Amino acid sequence: MPIRHYLQFNDFTRDEYEHLFARTRWIKERFKQYERYWPLEDRTLVMIFEKQSTRTRLSFEAGMHQLGGAAIYLNTRDSQLGRGEPVEDAAQVISRMCDLVMIRTFEQDIVDRFAAHSRVPVINGLTNEYHPCQIMADIYTFIEHRGDIKGRTVAWIGDSNNVCNTWLQAAEVFDFNVRVSTPPGYEIEPERAGLYGTGHYQEFSDPMEAVHGADLVTTDVWTSMGFEAENEERKRAFEDWQVDGDMMRAAKKDAVFMHCLPAHRGEEVAADVIDGPQSVVWDEAENRLHTQKALMEFLVLGRVAGT
Ligand code: CP
Ligand code: NVA
Repeated sequence: MPIRHYLQFNDFTRDEYEHLFARTRWIKERFKQYERYWPLEDRTLVMIFEKQSTRTRLSFEAGMHQLGGAAIYLNTRDSQLGRGEPVEDAAQVISRMCDLVMIRTFEQDIVDRFAAHSRVPVINGLTNEYHPCQIMADIYTFIEHRGDIKGRTVAWIGDSNNVCNTWLQAAEVFDFNVRVSTPPGYEIEPERAGLYGTGHYQEFSDPMEAVHGADLVTTDVWTSMGFEAENEERKRAFEDWQVDGDMMRAAKKDAVFMHCLPAHRGEEVAADVIDGPQSVVWDEAENRLHTQKALMEFLVLGRVAGT
């Protein structure tokens, strides 16, 4: 079987996502019934973190354990990666000792170079440019709550960051529409977002206009990891880009609110929105576990039959 990697959202086709979501449903159902499912017994996942994490680490580590395998955590501080060992050399060595690698790092180029020298599948656990595992879980969560996402409208309010770029790629794969509002100077860069075209999103200078008629309203922190030096400047620039009750009222009546978390109440989202009835953020976080278990199964074993 040729090696597949998951480095960007558009590495998989819609048909492959449909397979992954069917497997997710099956795996989640069994997990909820405390049924053992160990397809990855004796397999090892290596997780490399060059940035902090709660959800990504926990969901991959717990997920691998629940699939019968083991997970090993490496970070920059304690491994030779932090002392300048070339990423290509690290990839050669690490991939001879495990079955799967997940990396959270800075530039996308680092994950791409690691994958190019890896003998085993590599998963992007967040880079400056993309966060594919997050949006896979988000779309699965939307489908659970509201059905098919094709033809729907997603409103993205705030920074055109890694999570935003991944939503834009997902819109091309799943054929939905994204209405984006970012402050001036923080606009989308289509090439950096890795888009094929411009047909699946529109940009609005007024965030209230962007949320109009949306089925899903979503946002993320104003300052992503690695950009902390810009924090004060960003707080001023993003002041009017807080998702609040007025914005949710401008969206569709049954719109859901999502946030990849961690969130800053009173900055990118008002407390009454994230803690309110339209918010599905806890389901969204939980689904990281279930979707990534399907992802790991797929990358190691290929298409497993049965749903
Ligand atoms: N959403 C997300 O990736 O969270 P962590 O940074 O906690 O992994
Ligand atoms: N955009 C955020 C997402 C964190 C999960 C960051 O990169 O820090």
